Amino acid sequence: MALLEVQNLTVEFDLGVESLRAVNDVSFAIDAGEALGLVGESGSGKTVTALSIMRLLDRSAKIVQGHIWFDGQDLAAESESAMQSIRGRRIGMVFQEPMTSLNPGFTVGEQVAEVYRYHLQLSSVEARRRTIEMFERVKLPGAREMFRKYPHEFSGGMRQRVTIAAALACGPSLLIADEPTTAVDVTIQAQILSLLRELQRDLNLALLFISHDLAVVSELCTRAAVLYGAQLVEVGSTDAIFTAPNHPYTAGLIRSIPQRGQPLQGIPGTIFDLRTPPPGCRFHPRCIYARPRCSWDAPPLTKSSTNSQAEKAHVYSCHYPLGLRVE
Ligand SMILES: Nc1ncnc2c1ncn2[C@@H]1O[C@H](COP(=O)(O)OP(=O)(O)OP(=O)(O)O)[C@@H](O)[C@H]1O
Ligand SMILES: [Mg+2]
Repeated sequence: MALLEVQNLTVEFDLGVESLRAVNDVSFAIDAGEALGLVGESGSGKTVTALSIMRLLDRSAKIVQGHIWFDGQDLAAESESAMQSIRGRRIGMVFQEPMTSLNPGFTVGEQVAEVYRYHLQLSSVEARRRTIEMFERVKLPGAREMFRKYPHEFSGGMRQRVTIAAALACGPSLLIADEPTTAVDVTIQAQILSLLRELQRDLNLALLFISHDLAVVSELCTRAAVLYGAQLVEVGSTDAIFTAPNHPYTAGLIRSIPQRGQPLQGIPGTIFDLRTPPPGCRFHPRCIYARPRCSWDAPPLTKSSTNSQAEKAHVYSCHYPLGLRVE
């Protein structure tokens, strides 16, 4: 059985007179030690999916359907007190903007040491020793001196290393990283990605890596799940998705990766308002291949015919998949 198995997850926000379904019937699984990328444009439901797993959703949001199996426990049905021993201890999370998880009033050392004291009940001396060890592991230069510094004394990339150290302090088996490199420049991005790759391999971590950038996902993850308008449109190995995407939205994401000497190609149009999803295939109003059926008949997730026995399922939701298209 997979370490994490999200089954038919559906999350709604109560907006008073109406409701908004931010995640609609989403299913995916991650094995121990495996890295899965969750990709999609802004507003597609990536963060809400991650916050559902951690059970950190806003009060106005509710998991209305589905299960989140983690190591045999259904997190969707767990009590808050049970979640407190899972969060930070068995599942770590890194957010896009490190300052949201760091307190500017305490030194970074105290903040990471607190994780050890709270979850593992370590003494202050032992917590400090383990924190410095973890700072070395995430390659913070001069780890001992770093302990006494405040978050504002760090650059964005260094701050992100501190939050990674805090997330991994208790040796979780799953790390959720939500756009961890979006707030830093490309050089720092490459360093953070390489650090995550190394930690994932050395610690045999399962990773749910969230990004709007399929190119970044393919560097780090062996599989990818593509979200469009709160629903999965394609899931498969990053190799299969890159070489033979079936869904026109996935193909659009690949085309929009900048290539040297080529004009930038975006996906025409914008994502719909989640309060009023279009009928049929949710992507049809933007799809250059849409046919009449697409506007009324929602395509189910279907297994790709090119899926080899050896490979994990490659699925897509499209009536006219690109791989099988007869023009
Ligand atoms: N607190 C909230 N109240 C109401 N609606 C919300 C709230 N948070 C998110 N949403 C809605 O849920 C949808 C999914 O949001 P989410 O933050 O998961 O998107 P995302 O894919 O992470 O986007 P981004 O790439 O911009 O981070 C959005 O369209 C948004 O309108
Ligand atoms: Mg987000």
